[in-house]
Amino acid sequence: MAKLVGGLGTSHVPSIGAALDKGQRDSPEWKPFFDGYIPGQRWVMDQEPDIAVVIFNDHGNAFFLDKVPTFAVGCAEEYRPIDEGWGPRPIPLFKGAVEFSWHFIDKLVENRFDPMICQEIEVDHGIQVPMELFWGRPAEWPVKVVPIFVNVIQYPIPLPSRCYEMGRVLREAIDTYPSDERVVVLGTGGLSHQLQGARAGFLNPQADQAFLDDIAIDPGKLAAMSREEYVDMFGSEGAELMMWLVMRGAMDAQVVVRHKHYFVPASMTGAGMIVLENKISTAMAA
Ligand code: DHB
Ligand code: FE
Repeated sequence: MAKLVGGLGTSHVPSIGAALDKGQRDSPEWKPFFDGYIPGQRWVMDQEPDIAVVIFNDHGNAFFLDKVPTFAVGCAEEYRPIDEGWGPRPIPLFKGAVEFSWHFIDKLVENRFDPMICQEIEVDHGIQVPMELFWGRPAEWPVKVVPIFVNVIQYPIPLPSRCYEMGRVLREAIDTYPSDERVVVLGTGGLSHQLQGARAGFLNPQADQAFLDDIAIDPGKLAAMSREEYVDMFGSEGAELMMWLVMRGAMDAQVVVRHKHYFVPASMTGAGMIVLENKISTAMAA
């Protein structure tokens, strides 16, 4: 069966991609941020995953407010990076893990999740930026992807507990997939930020740091929080953080934190990264 090698969490701020496009990786503003990802990049290289399942929200690029699925899963042969208005980005197409996508969608429906099924869709910074943060700028991505879209934009957004439950189904899909492929799961978004309204510019570094601890040791607490508490604590766009619970739900109850990084502010956002492994697989490797 396929093997879950670990879970990654990361912010997906678009200015990170823009900084790379403009050659600003080693500028004084950005270097400490990007250097924090080096251990995560090394971990990914060592693990050699074949499939990356990436949970993210579209930001009005593939879906607009007129039609918003609560959950959508891609099962396309390839996903073109969307031009979000600054011109085409110098990153390759994403190849789809088509068969695993269908297997996962089947498991979702069996478990009474009914996602939108996308055989053709473009993907925005929500997936582009996490991929380049962990895999750099290869000529071709060395993994195939499964994009999971979560609506955290147009209210009513799903419950954090529902995201956590979806992660359990994702794990079931990995554990029952007849293949020797290695799967890594990426939860993206956050951390605290609010880009509009009365609290525009809101940041909460203390809550961000607590989240980075709790996602490893007490995910049940994060899953039990209400949507309003996410908005309150992390800002209206910071509520994206609930998508990390899909990743965490796919992992074992007991995990080991391999790497963790926090940097504030990246643009107007608290930017965080975490690398998790299941405790059992870590013990077996030792
Ligand atoms: C910004 C956009 C995002 O989607 C996000 O998650 C964080 C920051 C931004 O435009 O600054
Ligand atoms: Fe976002």
